[in-house]
Order: sequence, then C-alpha cells, then structure tokens
Amino acid sequence: MSHIELRCPKCGITRPADMSAEACRDCGSPMDVGYLATRDTKGDTAPSPVHETSARVTLGEGNTPCVILNTIGGRLPLGRLRAKLEFLNPTGSFKDRGTATMLSVAGERGVTELVEDSSGNAGASVSAYAARAGIKAHIFVPADAPEAKLRQIRAYGTEVHPIAGPREAVTAAAIAYAQQNALVYASHMLSPYFAEGTKTFAYEVVEQLEDDLPGHVVFPVGNGSLLIGAFNGFNELLASGRIEKIPRLHCVQSRNVMPLVAAFNGQKWGPEDAAKTVAGGISIAAPSRQWQILEILRLTGGSAVAVEESSILKFQRDLAEDEGIFAEPTSAAAFAGLEILVDQDIIQQGDDVLVPATGFGLKDEPPPSS
Ligand SMILES: Cc1ncc(COP(=O)(O)O)c(C=O)c1O
Ligand SMILES: [Zn+2]
Repeated sequence: MSHIELRCPKCGITRPADMSAEACRDCGSPMDVGYLATRDTKGDTAPSPVHETSARVTLGEGNTPCVILNTIGGRLPLGRLRAKLEFLNPTGSFKDRGTATMLSVAGERGVTELVEDSSGNAGASVSAYAARAGIKAHIFVPADAPEAKLRQIRAYGTEVHPIAGPREAVTAAAIAYAQQNALVYASHMLSPYFAEGTKTFAYEVVEQLEDDLPGHVVFPVGNGSLLIGAFNGFNELLASGRIEKIPRLHCVQSRNVMPLVAAFNGQKWGPEDAAKTVAGGISIAAPSRQWQILEILRLTGGSAVAVEESSILKFQRDLAEDEGIFAEPTSAAAFAGLEILVDQDIIQQGDDVLVPATGFGLKDEPPPSS
C-alpha cells in the first residue's frame, strides 16, 4: 500500500497518488503530497514520497553551503547577510531538489518517457535526472530561451521542442504533446512531487544554522516552488518541535512581471501588462500556485516587492565583484528586492537575512550592452 496520497492544499480533497499533473478537481489548485504514514525520522529529515531508498535518482543534490556576504550585508546594512549557494546543485540551480524527487517517483512508477516545459533551469534539471534514470525527456522551451540553458538541456540527450510566442504557449504545446502521445506531463509547476522535493532547503537551513536561524528569507519567485517547499519544510520542523518559529518569507519579482506583488498589494495587474525581463526564471505572468504563495507570505509575516531591471543587473555585478558570487540575473533579483525591503523598513537594519543564490551566472549572461 502506498504511504502517500495527493492532497489539495486549498480544500483538502484527496486522491490516490499518481503521476498526473492534474489539479484538484474541485477547486483547481495544484495538488500536494500527503502522507498516510510517516516513517520515524525523528523530525530531522524530510519525509519523502519515494517508497524505496534504492529507487532514488540522485546526483548528490542539496547540502549547499551558506556563506556570509560581508560587503553587501554591511552596505545595506544588515546584522548578517548570508547566501545559500543553490547554484552548486548538480545542474547549477535549486531545481535539482525538486527534480530528484519527481524523477525518483517517476522511475518507481515505471515511467519511460515524459514531457516538461521550462524557460531553462527546470528543463536542464529534468533532462539530467531523466538521463540518470534512463527516462526519455521532451523539453518544451521558449524559442528565445538563453542559449547556454538550451545547450545544457541538449547536452543530456533530451529532445528539445522550441516554441515561439509567450511562455503560456510553451506550456500549452507541452500539454498537447503529452496528451497526443499518452506521455506523463512532469511539470515542475504543477507536480506535487517537485514541490515536495524542495522542502529539503528548510531542513538544511535548520541543520546548518541551528541556533542562528535567520529572521528573514528572501526568494526570487515565479511559480513559487522554492518558497512553498521551504515553507512546508519549516512548517514540519515547527510541528515536530525542532524550531520555535518560521523565518519571515519574502517574495521578489521583476517590475516587468509582477502578478504576485500586485495581488499582495491589492493592485490591478494582468498578463497583458507583462514585459520582457532579464530575470527569465521568474517571468511567470499567471503562477499556478498564486493563492498558496500569498497565504505563505501572510502566515509568516512576509512581503512582496518588485524590482527594476537596472537594479537586478547592478546586484548581479555587485555579487560577482564584491562577493565572488556569479549568479544569474533571476537570482540577483532577490538581492535587489532585499534592498527595497530594507528601504521600506520591512527588514530592519541589524536583522539576520538569508537569500538563496538560485542559479549559476554562466547559464544566463546579461546582454553585452547592459
Ligand atoms: C535561477 C532561478 N531562480 C528562481 C526561480 C523561481 O522559481 P519558482 O518559479 O519555483 O518560484 C527560477 C525558476 O525558473 C530560476 O531558474
Ligand atoms: Zn481543492
């Protein structure tokens, strides 16, 4: 018997666990993993939807270091600013946390071919872990995705399907292809297993920083998989008594694509207002888990802020030149947002802050003119 089921985080409806990316049939929310019985882990490790440890598809993801950023932290100024170097994951982004879990479950369920759509990092990650699991992957990508990300996806032997038009057209093409060919649609945006895999972020933060947990964690957010996973992990650690308080979780978006920031602040914003951004990883005009993200911000006392393109690129340069951290623009956006959160006194001078550096700089270099 399975130790998991799929559970709607919004209305609580459950259904037996499967590989479908289908949302809740009642309210339309993407589903989460629910545990029918958890193994005794003493609350130290995240419960996993994978049945057999031997079935895990892994490339050694996770356990990324947290480093102190003295120069940028001192300039803001903060009590302490740390970055968790998520780009040190096997394919260069935090996505490997979610992908390892999603592909392990897929392998366990006998999946041999799957479809995913991505602006780059999730596609590279799914490609790598699919190769590792012996699963054929079809990755649908925007035709104008960064060349380095496309090269990385192709390197794993994946079939790449470039699609012209807006990001939503890429998703629609992937879903249609999966349906026509009766393949699993392993969407990092919708899969309950992907969201579940990112929980390890919170478990590591607690293990690494133990007595010194940050008061705030600032995320660059598109679909919110890292923010949601981190919250779920912190929540489990709170329930098990391992921590006493969840850090305040904040959301940063580009001013050019800011559905969550607008919704958080009660402003009107629609996909028609979206413009191109250098932060391609968070260029999501209609996040499928929007309500869940807003709920997490509310529950943790977090906030949502939008940043200018010039500020994203400035922080990308500062991270590299002042701290030796070469992160992609999407990751730098979180640091640009941190500056605004300090300006607005939401994060106070002297506070202790953690920011995940989510993706490596070589994946998505800024245009030469910027
Ligand atoms: C480098 C990087 N950071 C952050 C994100 C945002 O992740 P999510 O869409 O799960 O919020 C992405 C997504 O592609 C990304 O590639
Ligand atoms: Zn529901």
